[in-house]
Amino acid sequence: MISIRKATQADSQLVQGIYHRAILGHCLGTYSPKIIRQWTQPVRPIMFEHLVEQYVYIAVEDQEPVGISCYNSQSEYLNGIYIEPRYMGSGIGKMLLQHQENLLISQGKIEIELRVTLNAVPFYRHLGYSFISESISKIPLQDEIIYSHMIKSLHRKSTQNQRLVLLQMSAA
Ligand SMILES: CC(C)(COP(=O)(O)OP(=O)(O)OC[C@H]1O[C@@H](n2cnc3c(N)ncnc32)[C@H](O)[C@@H]1OP(=O)(O)O)[C@@H](O)C(=O)NCCC(=O)NCCS
Repeated sequence: MISIRKATQADSQLVQGIYHRAILGHCLGTYSPKIIRQWTQPVRPIMFEHLVEQYVYIAVEDQEPVGISCYNSQSEYLNGIYIEPRYMGSGIGKMLLQHQENLLISQGKIEIELRVTLNAVPFYRHLGYSFISESISKIPLQDEIIYSHMIKSLHRKSTQNQRLVLLQMSAA
């Protein structure tokens, strides 16, 4: 059974491992080997630990971490869903994305906007996201990276969640 938990600073190494393996396993082919190499460089631990502690959730199956989600509208780094390659295609990415959406709904957000890797556009589109535009990220000393901006309204889902709560309350 899959469960989702909030990451701590102690998870930084495992988060970075999943992040790098997912990129190596799924982004190569869409992006050049040079960009993939730049992307999968180890980062400064302190900066990364804070990012992990604040924004990352981990999907765990039988005590094994199998995927991560990170939503941080302030940063270009580590945003999105990343799944261990051997677990891709088993519904874990969808579960993490829905978890992220529910978190935003509980914070009163009515839409979610993501900057996603080009290889992942069909996944997000399949889960209700619409394409807005492409953007180019210019990280100093690195090659330009093209991303897609995608958006999804959380309004209907939010209303459905509220109805469910009302039904549960009236049944109690
Ligand atoms: C993209 C990624 C997160 C998808 O996660 P996943 O666990 O493999 O996807 P899931 O098994 O949860 O798929 C959920 C649904 O999306 C669909 N889907 C997944 N990939 C798809 C694709 N490329 N095209 C169309 N539909 C896709 C599945 O068929 C499934 O549909 P269903 O719910 O109707 O059965 C994963 O492949 C990954 O980690 N990729 C590398 C890292 C990356 O680029 N992440 C995105 C960063 S923004």
